[in-house]
Amino acid sequence: MDKFIIDGPTKLNGEVDISGSKNAALPILTACLGKPGIYILKNVPNLRDTRTMLKLLEIIGCKINHQPKAIIIDSNNCNNPEAPYELVRKMRASVLVLGPLLARFGSAVVSLPGGCAIGTRPVEMHLDALSKMGVTFDIQNGYISANCSRLIGCEISFPKTTVTGTENILMASTLAEGKTVITNAAREPEVVDLANFLNEMGAEITGHGTDVIEVKGVKSLRGVSYSALPDRIETGTFLVAAAITGGEITIKNTISNHVAIIIEKLRQSGAIIDSTDSSITLNMQGKRPKAVNIETGAYPLFPTDMQAQLTALNTIASGTSIIKENIFENRFMHIQEMSRMGAEIKLEQNCAIISGKDELIGASVMATDLRASASLILAGLVAKGTTEIERIYHIDRGYDCIEEKLQQLGADIHRMPM
Ligand code: EPZ
Repeated sequence: MDKFIIDGPTKLNGEVDISGSKNAALPILTACLGKPGIYILKNVPNLRDTRTMLKLLEIIGCKINHQPKAIIIDSNNCNNPEAPYELVRKMRASVLVLGPLLARFGSAVVSLPGGCAIGTRPVEMHLDALSKMGVTFDIQNGYISANCSRLIGCEISFPKTTVTGTENILMASTLAEGKTVITNAAREPEVVDLANFLNEMGAEITGHGTDVIEVKGVKSLRGVSYSALPDRIETGTFLVAAAITGGEITIKNTISNHVAIIIEKLRQSGAIIDSTDSSITLNMQGKRPKAVNIETGAYPLFPTDMQAQLTALNTIASGTSIIKENIFENRFMHIQEMSRMGAEIKLEQNCAIISGKDELIGASVMATDLRASASLILAGLVAKGTTEIERIYHIDRGYDCIEEKLQQLGADIHRMPM
């Protein structure tokens, strides 16, 4: 298991290109199962999670061909609609194969994902919605066996907004009989990207990006070429890296209106930010950030995947801040690690109260989940002295070449085998 060694503090300066979005690429990869065909996908980031998903597609019967600038997926000969535990336990997003496999085969066997570090993360909303569409489930030995003679379009109203739940129903309903209307649908840009991909394949989806999505079932879909969205959470993470270190960076190949609320919060913390549609320049002018309060929620509210990064910023900000986490029940594990670096944070139910300190001191810390590990890197960049971050396999799940990108911006960060 590798670790990161970071020496700080270092002001970051320069330019960085954003990779494709993990959370757009994962559902798009599973959508290729829905109909036999040849799919040419671009801007798929090279991550542990996308590699795990490609392995899963191969187990199901896809042929994968890696080109320099694209991944070609041949799903013509899929014959094994099963997602085994050894892959699903590594990546909960494997549950996204349910919708397309049911649409194509009328059956699927998927391991129950189990919990993860940030919460229990049940999938009952996925199953309840699919059963309304005519699917029957048998859950035995930790596996979900799903069957249906025909998926029937209907009204699906999610009790809580669910990103992958919305995505599973989008993929299932494209080939269902009749119309499906999803209310309280997730509005995340990654959901919109999946809907755009499915429409390219010949689906008839409208309303994506709002909380009411309509899908008219079609008889057939076709293989297509498509380029995934840039990653808005990687974008936000690098914006915070510039803000926390007092530097100035330009982020390219992104979509600035997908991070509007993050830009607003960083402006409140004192950053000067200019943007075009596809690039953002943040200049902190060497200043110490001001404390900003955050409350996470479903898009377009503040993303939970950026909560840990803003927590890191607030640990060295001037003033006291409150971070309220409304999405996951255990997404503050980065806090005890930051406290080892001198951060002053009190936890009260789903709120973190942070008293900003003049500085953090480098220490050995442990990554616990994907975004927590990103926040520890940010803390290490600004901390005085050396920070060692262990279990960085978490970060490799969702960030493409993060240490190389940070080194290009002047960070003193190296990966060491443990
Ligand atoms: C997606 O997870 C993202 N993952 C997560 O990103 C992200 O944090 C999350 O959406 C929220 O934005 C992918 O897109 C692959 P939810 P998802 O269903 O779909 C509860 C990252 O760091 N819930 O929107 O699993 C759930 O426990 C990852 O890239 C149920 O109770 O999240 C949570 O409290 C982490 N029952 C809330 O709803 C269900 O059936 C929102 O979860 C489904 C969800």
